[in-house]
Amino acid sequence: MERSFDLICIGTALVDSIIRGFDPNPVSASGFRAESGSLNVGGEAVNEAMAAAKLGARTGILCSLGTDEAGEMIVSALRRCGVDTGRVLRDGAHTTPVTTMFVNADGTRKSITNGAHRHNFHPERDTARFTDARALILGSLFRAPFDDPAIIAAVLEAAKAAGELVFADTKLPNFRSLTLEDLRECLPLIDCITPNEDEARYYSGKDRPEDMADVFLRYGIKNVVIKLGAAGCYFKNAGAEIRLPACNVRAVDATGAGDNFVAGFAAELLRGAPEPDALRFANACGAICASAVGAGTALQSRDQVLRLLETERREK
Ligand SMILES: Nc1ncnc2c1ncn2[C@@H]1O[C@H](COP(=O)(O)OP(=O)(O)OP(=O)(O)O)[C@@H](O)[C@H]1O
Ligand SMILES: [Mg+2]
Repeated sequence: MERSFDLICIGTALVDSIIRGFDPNPVSASGFRAESGSLNVGGEAVNEAMAAAKLGARTGILCSLGTDEAGEMIVSALRRCGVDTGRVLRDGAHTTPVTTMFVNADGTRKSITNGAHRHNFHPERDTARFTDARALILGSLFRAPFDDPAIIAAVLEAAKAAGELVFADTKLPNFRSLTLEDLRECLPLIDCITPNEDEARYYSGKDRPEDMADVFLRYGIKNVVIKLGAAGCYFKNAGAEIRLPACNVRAVDATGAGDNFVAGFAAELLRGAPEPDALRFANACGAICASAVGAGTALQSRDQVLRLLETERREK
């Protein structure tokens, strides 16, 4: 059966209001200054969908936005990258989540979220919105709407009944906290989980990537990729183990590197690449993302990723 999409990303969509160089000394009774203030679209599902579309995958997104200006901004950014927005839910009863982020000169940050981030939309109530793709990415497991075991199980069951390949990116909990044990019955429906090192440590309770991966594998997840930031990545399944150092780039901001990584891994597997090649490709996507400020800035095309891989091969 011909599917409408290669990939549908389900999950978080938001706008980041990023304030750099905030001066805490007021310039008037209620006025403050900062070096810059900018708006960027973000959220894992948005970052993943934009990256996958730029890599050439036929990509859709299922997320919930308000009918406000922030929602408009996300939709137009998605469309500019070639993401199909026909499945986006617009809901006048909720506002689009906006995160205000203060970034210090040393790169440390403080972020302020609001009640809108807590809103659980219900992808499981209309499974036709996500079951006509070859693969799904949950962006992210453990964050709304995937912090509710009933929603997670229903989405995974519908996806697998439709024969989709299921990727789950992860986040540390914010409003509601789940353990792997809470999801014991549905974890075997996940084909590939892609936590970063902190997330893998938190959910597995282990310290070494190989031990972390074993915990996820014991719960029945088929493939585990642990993203190790500037140290690259680690892959394990029942038959293979791969460790890759990071690509050599001048990193300036790793925000969204993980989302670009998982989009690259999924898109390349869907093109038919064997796992080791798709992993190398993903590793390069994460590195490219980290080479510029912003989650959706640096990665432009599949050719760009292939060129970085070629440079890495020659420099070895
Ligand atoms: N400094 C870096 N140099 C080269 N590659 C990097 C660097 N930082 C990240 N990467 C690549 O990007 C991948 C994902 O990065 P990271 O481990 O930071 O994921 P993450 O924490 O999930 O990111 P985010 O949640 O912000 O999207 C890494 O596995 C690596 O391949
Ligand atoms: Mg991440």
